[in-house]
Amino acid sequence: MRHTKVKDLLNSTTTLEEVNAKGWVRTFRNNQFIALNDGSTINNIQCVVDFENTADETLKRITTGAAISVTGSLVESKGAGQKYEIKVSELEILGDSDAEKFPMQPKKHSLEFLRENAHLRVRTNAFGAIMRVRSVLSFAVHSYFQQKGFVYVNTPIITGADAEGAGEMFQVTSLPLDNLPKNEEENIDYKKDFFGKHTNLTVSGQLEGETFAMALGQIYTFGPTFRAENSNTSRHLAEFWMIEPEVAFNDLNANMDLAEDFIRYVIKYALDHCGDDLKFLEGRLLEEEKSKPQTERSEMTLLEKLNFVLENNFKRVSYTEAIDILRDSTTNKKKKFQYSIDEWGADLQSEHERYLVEKHFKCPVILFDYPAKIKAFYMRLNEDGKTVRAMDILFPGIGEIVGGSQREERFDVLVEKMKALGINEEELWWYLDTRRFGSAVHSGFGLGFERLVLFVTGMTNIRDVIPFPRTPMNAEF
Ligand code: 4AD
Ligand code: MG
Repeated sequence: MRHTKVKDLLNSTTTLEEVNAKGWVRTFRNNQFIALNDGSTINNIQCVVDFENTADETLKRITTGAAISVTGSLVESKGAGQKYEIKVSELEILGDSDAEKFPMQPKKHSLEFLRENAHLRVRTNAFGAIMRVRSVLSFAVHSYFQQKGFVYVNTPIITGADAEGAGEMFQVTSLPLDNLPKNEEENIDYKKDFFGKHTNLTVSGQLEGETFAMALGQIYTFGPTFRAENSNTSRHLAEFWMIEPEVAFNDLNANMDLAEDFIRYVIKYALDHCGDDLKFLEGRLLEEEKSKPQTERSEMTLLEKLNFVLENNFKRVSYTEAIDILRDSTTNKKKKFQYSIDEWGADLQSEHERYLVEKHFKCPVILFDYPAKIKAFYMRLNEDGKTVRAMDILFPGIGEIVGGSQREERFDVLVEKMKALGINEEELWWYLDTRRFGSAVHSGFGLGFERLVLFVTGMTNIRDVIPFPRTPMNAEF
């Protein structure tokens, strides 16, 4: 007999004479009530065992974590909170789980402990919910762009380019480890290596994406990106997924409109398709908030926060205005910022971004027209000669969720900028071809997928929204 998903059984419109379900035991109470979960939904189905007619040997093997198959009838449940349950007539243990050793016992585990067990944490309610929401969000990303006629482009993972010019790349080499330099003077001879040149894992698919936008009009990438920045924070991963749309003939304002519309669409999609999981995560968050002092508790619940983003336009503010606000803020004057903001041109730290979003504007903010000096080489220089058409979208609780810009479409200006920054023109000859042949205004942005999942699930550490987090000193799996 084919098994039916627990989700479909719970959503059944009638009782059913014979059904089969397969899944993992969450709990087993009074030798009679199994809470069975198969991952299709946050909700367990209650399976009522006829313990008088079941061998003791079998009952003993119904332990948390065991894989079982139950056959029986789907009947109305007398228990609270569930419409149906399975009255079990046949029970088979598919895979035992030693109750003494299984780490995911039904009790509250710390997130740190769960991170060390990333291969098993997905068997908990919270991580099951997070990973389902993540999956739905990635479908929503494709759904949004495909509906709008964007072409999905797979940009290279191994590349010779440093798209951000920030030098935070993981080098790729086929040379045996014992051939690596033993001290700093000794250099690897990359000419002898697989590609005959330095290569690295991509930090962004943008540059390749731009070449496709200049032919296909509207494109997007959605893939893994890698950064060797040694930022051990709750917002940084060494391996994360990024969504990067790029659109020919869009200026910075059109870019902002696209980003806002896109973010709203995917959040709405999650609200419409992940109701049970988001409700569960909201409850989890409320529990967590209770342990905080009143003043530090969030004013909004998770669902209120998500709906707030749907209903309110993001505040668009230039870098210069933001700096004025920060300089004037009493927090800055009283030096409560770790890095005080004293002059125009300083890069904003996450404490400043969060001040603007959480304390000053109290809504998502798009900062634009940043000083050229603190942004990447490819951004369009403004007429003032000192700012570029960059934008960062800042979210409450997250900080920067999107970074993007209108691109420098003028060949000469771009080359001059690259020269000034010491970026090798010869290596980027193919990128410069977009400006040599049929150049045009174009814009795009990158959204860090895990930061989006953080926001939607209400989690606070980025390690908890990706299946197997990669961070400095951590690649257990
Ligand atoms: O601001 P970033 O570095 O921009 C780019 O890479 C551009 N090439 C994007 C573009 O215009 N096509 O990164 C974009 C976003 C950030 O706003 C952030 O959300 C995320 O990627 N991000 C990270 N997420 C997790 N861990 C990290 N180490 C991240 N670095 C950036
Ligand atoms: Mg950025």
